Amino acid sequence: MSERPRVWVSQPLFDDVIARLDEYFEVSATTAVTQHAPEAVAAALREADGALVTLNDPIGAAQIAGATRLRAIANVGVGYNNLDLPALSAAGILATNTPDVLTETTADFGWALMMATARRISEAERWLREGHWQRWSFDSLLGGDVHGSTLGILGMGRIGQAIARRAAGFGMRTLYHNRSRLPEAVERECAAGYVSFDELLGRADHLILVLPYSPQSHHLIDAAALAKMQAQATLTNIARGGIVDENALCDALEQGRLAAAGLDVYEGEPRLNPRLLEQRRVVLTPHIASGSLATRRAMVSLAVDNLIAALGHGPNAGKPPS
Ligand code: DGY
Repeated sequence: MSERPRVWVSQPLFDDVIARLDEYFEVSATTAVTQHAPEAVAAALREADGALVTLNDPIGAAQIAGATRLRAIANVGVGYNNLDLPALSAAGILATNTPDVLTETTADFGWALMMATARRISEAERWLREGHWQRWSFDSLLGGDVHGSTLGILGMGRIGQAIARRAAGFGMRTLYHNRSRLPEAVERECAAGYVSFDELLGRADHLILVLPYSPQSHHLIDAAALAKMQAQATLTNIARGGIVDENALCDALEQGRLAAAGLDVYEGEPRLNPRLLEQRRVVLTPHIASGSLATRRAMVSLAVDNLIAALGHGPNAGKPPS
């Protein structure tokens, strides 16, 4: 009997979902959440025909140098900036991600974070828990309105569009900027108008970042971009931390040039820029935008399907993966 392909699962995911891999492969699964050393990833990949990984696992030329049997990497996530795609493709290794299944959940979270930011919900809760509330007061913790304001969306892929569709219920004007303008029918359906990057910065009352991270989007929101925003505006980032220059953001908040920020992602996560922790008007969450139970299960399930198909098994064998 020929040897079964070997698969490495880099993080503990949902055991019952991962178990589907057992039907086709010898599975070696990590049992505790681990920040694997780069050499440990290389060692695991050397033994594997396929791997199921997450954004915690950077994989580049060094990790695949000795991985002569490796044919496919299934990333659990829609973002894949942890993977060096040119290096993988040069080595003939197929990479897949998990779009669609997380779109609506991530859009919900973008809204939650934007609203918490605009209405100072974290700050208010901290204040309450710290025992500062003596009596109801007319003018404490006043925030900015969301309804009726101008929503700016930077990055108008699936998640950006899902965020835009929700804005109609809040009577907002929605503006967006994207690498390429959407077809008119999609703009109509999302009730969103295309504007230049600078116009988006200048007009948005609430700017939300939903674009992919790449060398081109690194620090796209820098001091110069922040200077173009309105002083009463808020910034919400559910994309990738590296898109925002965090020190420039702290400067803008400290100097009253921006009202507030909501961040789910960070440049050096899980390490936080200590200046962010000092900001009263910043809502910080630990990269959980797609984190509903059902969606995280769906992401793992899609990644499992992708890996099975990419290694030539299951009902989707031979079909193009996500
Ligand atoms: C993604 O899918 O890229 C998220 O950031 C991780 O859930």
